Amino acid sequence: MPAIAIIGAQWGDEGKGKATDLLGSSVDYVVKFNGGNNAGHTVVINTPEGKTEKYALHLLPSGILTPGCTPVIGNGVVVDLDVLIEELDGLEARGVDTSRLVISASAHVIADYNRTLDKVTERFLGSRRLGTTGRGIGPTYADKMNRIGIRIQDLFDEKILRAKVEGALELKGQVLTKIYNRRAPSVDETVAELLTHADRIRPMVRDTGLLLNQALDRGETVLLEAGQATLLDVDHGTYPFVTSSSATAGGACTGSGIPPMRMDQVIGIVKAYTTRVGEGPFPTELFDDAGEHLRKVGAEFGTTTGRPRRCGWYDAVIARYAARVNGVTDFVLTKLDVLTGLEQVPVCVAYDVNGTRHDEMPVNQTDFHHAVPIYEFLPGWWEDISGARTFEDLPANAQAYVRAVEQMSGARISAVGVGPSRDATVVVHPLI
Ligand code: GDP
Ligand code: IMO
Ligand code: MG
Repeated sequence: MPAIAIIGAQWGDEGKGKATDLLGSSVDYVVKFNGGNNAGHTVVINTPEGKTEKYALHLLPSGILTPGCTPVIGNGVVVDLDVLIEELDGLEARGVDTSRLVISASAHVIADYNRTLDKVTERFLGSRRLGTTGRGIGPTYADKMNRIGIRIQDLFDEKILRAKVEGALELKGQVLTKIYNRRAPSVDETVAELLTHADRIRPMVRDTGLLLNQALDRGETVLLEAGQATLLDVDHGTYPFVTSSSATAGGACTGSGIPPMRMDQVIGIVKAYTTRVGEGPFPTELFDDAGEHLRKVGAEFGTTTGRPRRCGWYDAVIARYAARVNGVTDFVLTKLDVLTGLEQVPVCVAYDVNGTRHDEMPVNQTDFHHAVPIYEFLPGWWEDISGARTFEDLPANAQAYVRAVEQMSGARISAVGVGPSRDATVVVHPLI
């Protein structure tokens, strides 16, 4: 049985949480392999009593909501321990069983000094800021690469933890006080903070790479759920306006310990239009009523920071790029319902960069900043599609939109989202 990756094909918030939740009942493990509590996944579930339950997850994999499925925080994740405990307690209070959660001993931990550094660096950058979520993600990944990071396993040996915190603060304490004029926390304070929840999480900590490979050996199904997305990936995204982790299919391997040849399927989640949070280039961004319309109808406000998301039309150039970078086998096209009621639906098919047509994503950052979308205009539809469950249920123009977008985007569209809840999905080709 397979290892399957779910990745974001745009700038995040494509509906990865819903897609993971949708597949959750047929998988044994759901693994978060990158990022931390910068992610925000909203999952809406219809209960057997006919009520709607909404969950906002940041650090926990969406599989935590599926009975029988084992959620895993992989080695590629950065963990804010307070957020972890808060999220677990919040779910337990709502009757969700969280006892199956497993955490990699090699995942890194977000210390308070890195949360502070994230915020003060952004302030220091002024107009050059990235618009980070301020959760300490970038500085914690920087420590990992600098080899001064603190890992989950360090929490269970106070002597080692203290030595590592001393090493990190030797440098970072100076940066905080001498560059940013902030108080640096003491080693004692930091160690005490990191040890607060150590006893509680100890039973959850495992060698998750071994666990997952053994699960695959037994023929079980493992779903690898990305935080963020292709265009926010530190290598393949719109650098420097990216997050600090590997959010693409390659990152699913390094962030979980599952080797590339064991990966069977890569599902790309792509919204029927485009959004972005924070700074950075965004060729199809709308600054007019149409953008406001998408934001309002699509409820495009951040799950993590509440910031209004920047909105624009579908961009087939970046979808093709995501298909290439990730080896997408299937796309899930989400939020098609949000496009209902438009006379015409523009789709960006290529860019004009200073008079030259680009059918592929320009590798040069300056070119991408200057990319002007070349649009094709597809006829809209007015019918309410939220009840559609088969492709034939969709009005002809909505079907034509899906087919046209599929043609341009480099992989087949296997499912279409027509509403926020788990069942509001049109399955064109079964995903597993
Ligand atoms: P993620 O970060 O990729 O998991 O996405 P978010 O959860 O941040 O944002 C996606 C939002 O769209 C959530 O509020 C979902 O409930 C919602 N959503 C997902 N799929 C659909 C869909 O097909 N239609 C509509 N209307 N909403 C959807
Ligand atoms: P999900 O998983 C959308 C953006 C931030 C900022 C940049 C860097 O819900 O799709 P960071 O705090 O990661 O250093 O910020 O990345 N960003 C996201 N945008 N969805 C996300 O996650 C994001 N996670 C980070 O807004 O521009
Ligand atoms: Mg999100």
